[in-house]
Amino acid sequence: MRARKIIIDTDPGQDDAVAILLALASPELDVVGITTVAGNVPLPLTSKNARVVCELAGREDVRIFAGCDRPMARKLVTAEYVHGKSGLDGITLPDPTMPLAEGHAVDFLIECLREEAPGAVTLCPIGPLTNIATAFRRAPDIVPRVAEIVLMGGAYFEVGNVTPAAEFNIYVDPEAAEIVFGSGVPIVVMPLDVTHKALTTRARVEAFRALGTRVGHAVASWTDFFERFDMAKYGSEGAPLHDPCVIAYLLQPDLFTGRHVNVEVETKGDFTLGMTVADWWRVTGRAANAMFMGGIDAEGFYALLTGRLARL
Ligand code: RIB
Ligand code: CA
Repeated sequence: MRARKIIIDTDPGQDDAVAILLALASPELDVVGITTVAGNVPLPLTSKNARVVCELAGREDVRIFAGCDRPMARKLVTAEYVHGKSGLDGITLPDPTMPLAEGHAVDFLIECLREEAPGAVTLCPIGPLTNIATAFRRAPDIVPRVAEIVLMGGAYFEVGNVTPAAEFNIYVDPEAAEIVFGSGVPIVVMPLDVTHKALTTRARVEAFRALGTRVGHAVASWTDFFERFDMAKYGSEGAPLHDPCVIAYLLQPDLFTGRHVNVEVETKGDFTLGMTVADWWRVTGRAANAMFMGGIDAEGFYALLTGRLARL
């Protein structure tokens, strides 16, 4: 079976890092490129961190393209309060020696989608959607060539994590999210409704550490750091490992349940900017444009994740 071609668009971030490692550990997936975007931390750091992660996985061959350094129409909002100043706080890893690939991430997205056959490439955005939306705006011809978008972002029943109404990835660039959700590309959404059910319990973090590898140690150290914010805010037993849910869906979709519904993005609300208005009860009559996930087999997710990380 040919490996599925994916592009990971990312703002590492500890959970992004785990998602990238899961993808690189999985032969079902062919990571044809990683594109970085400003989000959790500014672009220079997300671009550095993506290389740190690929080197940790021994994958200096992966092409990493730096992308947009700010949202389409707003000032950048970052999340050092969650991820630390470096974006990968929790363990100090060597500075990367692999270079960034030549060219801007948006140009790579356009060229790759034009060169690959229609329906050959799946986009996996796990940060603000600035790069994806900018590529769609600049080259509308690539939109129908995208096989599927599987993204981490949004929230409905779980409400927001950066404001009472909005999840971080959507909130940082709501105009970009509006473009992506309105693009007509088949979209699978991993919202906080799902990721908040995939918590890093002590046993799960110790299972990472018990792998006895550099990767296992790094992932355990990252989650030890990353979880302190959510545990303090929510009083939860651990932190949601948001971004790896996107990759887990590609590997084992039956770990998740959801509904195909209409999702609109609020771009004007004084109090609701960045909210994903998911018509879960189908009351609006608006056309469904996204598979909005709501449930996860958390045990199965962590078994998959830990088992794959063991391969690196
Ligand atoms: O709200 C969670 C999302 O915001 C995750 O992708 C995390 O990495 C941050 O980017
Ligand atoms: Ca992210």
